[in-house]
Amino acid sequence: MKAGSPYRVLCVCLGNICRSPTAEVILRQLAAQAGLNIEVDSAGTSNYHPNKAPDTRSQQHARARGYDLSALRARQITFDDFKSFDLILAMDENNLAELVKLKRHIEKSHNLSANNLAQVALMSEHDPNYPKLPVPDPYYGKNTDFERVIDECESAAQGWINLWQQQRNATNVQEPANA
Ligand code: 4NP
Repeated sequence: MKAGSPYRVLCVCLGNICRSPTAEVILRQLAAQAGLNIEVDSAGTSNYHPNKAPDTRSQQHARARGYDLSALRARQITFDDFKSFDLILAMDENNLAELVKLKRHIEKSHNLSANNLAQVALMSEHDPNYPKLPVPDPYYGKNTDFERVIDECESAAQGWINLWQQQRNATNVQEPANA
């Protein structure tokens, strides 16, 4: 992570009304509590629900666990997102495959190097409890599926925060105290 300007992270799922809005708010809240300078947004690979608020079931389950999703509105990911974000986090392997395909397309059509575009990874890449597992789509699911999304997003967010804190500590080595 660069010092100074905020590190920008985009959470992505299919519809941007269940998983990625939940991930956005949880990552923003936990990163702020950890004192990290991170900006977080979310988007969908589809344009199924443009400008819609998050699913009411996602909002209710999140609210009960201390997360307010009500101000968010769904949008589809754009080419510019790959230029303006540092890291794009896919909720599952289908989202990841779509993001990898989009990134390759942008590299070729805009003649850009992958280094100048957002890094793409799974939300659960560094998750200590659900390592590299998908955050399952709860849209056609039950209450327990919406709870599971929150459990996984909290755990996965903590995995990324642990990594960023290690990176921050490695670049801010303190002078030893005088003996
Ligand atoms: P999300 O869930 O990708 O977590 O937002 C979904 C929401 C809507 C649909 C699919 C998944 N849909 O098919 O409309």
